[in-house]
Amino acid sequence: MKSINQCILALSMGVSAIAQNMTYGAENFYRSNNVTVQPISFPTQYRTTVAGNLFYLKDQSNGAAPAVVVGHPMGAVKEQSANLYATRLAEQGFITVSIDLPFWGASMGEPRNVVLPDLYAEAFSAAVDYLGIQNITSVDRERIGGLGICGSGSFVISAAKLDSRIKAIATASMYDMGTLARQGLQNSQSVDQLKETIDEASQQRWTESDGGETQYTSANATAVEREFYDYYRTKRGEFVPVGSTLDLTTHPTLSTFTKFINFYPFNGIETISPRPMLFIAGDQAHSREFSQDAYSRAAEPKELLWVPGAGHVDLYDRTRLIPFQQLTEFFQTNLA
Ligand SMILES: *[C@@H]1O[C@H](CO)[C@@H](O)[C@H](O)[C@H]1NC(C)=O
Ligand SMILES: *[C@@H]1O[C@H](CO)[C@@H](O)[C@H](O)[C@H]1NC(C)=O
Ligand SMILES: *[C@@H]1O[C@H](CO)[C@@H](O)[C@H](O)[C@H]1NC(C)=O
Ligand SMILES: *[C@@H]1O[C@H](CO)[C@@H](O)[C@H](O)[C@H]1NC(C)=O
Repeated sequence: MKSINQCILALSMGVSAIAQNMTYGAENFYRSNNVTVQPISFPTQYRTTVAGNLFYLKDQSNGAAPAVVVGHPMGAVKEQSANLYATRLAEQGFITVSIDLPFWGASMGEPRNVVLPDLYAEAFSAAVDYLGIQNITSVDRERIGGLGICGSGSFVISAAKLDSRIKAIATASMYDMGTLARQGLQNSQSVDQLKETIDEASQQRWTESDGGETQYTSANATAVEREFYDYYRTKRGEFVPVGSTLDLTTHPTLSTFTKFINFYPFNGIETISPRPMLFIAGDQAHSREFSQDAYSRAAEPKELLWVPGAGHVDLYDRTRLIPFQQLTEFFQTNLA
């Protein structure tokens, strides 16, 4: 277990000054008086069910509107960060859907908290299906975009490679979960450590096939881990879905985390072109290498937007830092 934890969040790195001020502009649970929120669920191509929220302006005009699907950070649920982004975009006239990734939150899937990147990506396409066929508000099928925060940044890219109905793609504080699992942050994990991690997960799989207890990944030691802790384990961003417990939230199972080792979201990223991509990250973020890498491998049109002074988790909920204006303009321009 120890080496997986080291693999997930290996480095003790500097965390931005803002990140250390927990209260600075943190509005994870922001609600808008102008926006209607409605719980929804819809099927995937594999007949599993994804749970989400639908957001639209209370006075949404009847004309066809552009839409955006929003995915939450890895280990989170839609109530964490995704609802906030979906609400703020809905205020600007987009019809938005925040989703719970399969096996997380209110979405279907047993056991809970397992890792299956293909199904995570599929959830974005399933949300596009939903938006394109439902009649509550009129969505223009040709004007649907995707937005992924943290791990969902890599899942929405993975989805967009296979689904040309996703017409514009934005990420915030993106984590490439594949590179993270293989190499750690900033290439901090050696091949020997990777093999050790694989051995641990494999042995844990024996334990589980023998009927033993599921183990979960966990970490709380480094500066990076504390940055996550300040969000997920304080009233700033803590959320426990129905049927779960606080201890269970945020932790993928140990024996499935290794599925990310086969996940290469940026391979073929250039085939998304000419659909536009926008990568947003804090210039102090411990995860900045992932946005940088995706940006350099993507083809035009593409944009890399550094938020001065912001760390990784800052862009989950600090509304004074999240560049909603540029995000809105990106989708307005590219879903016009
Ligand atoms: C933290 O941010 C709040 C605003 O949200 C501000 O009032 C306070 O002065 C900041 N504290 C520090 C130590 O910077
Ligand atoms: C809510 O709607 C009112 C009336 O259209 C508008 O003046 C206000 O700016 C909107 N607020 C937000 C946060 O979008
Ligand atoms: C939406 O409306 C169309 C045309 O009226 C209808 O065929 C379709 O079944 C409706 N879809 C849903 C999900 O209600
Ligand atoms: C994790 O770290 C925080 C401080 O950053 C501490 O308050 C908390 O008790 C720790 N939790 C565990 C489970 O070690």
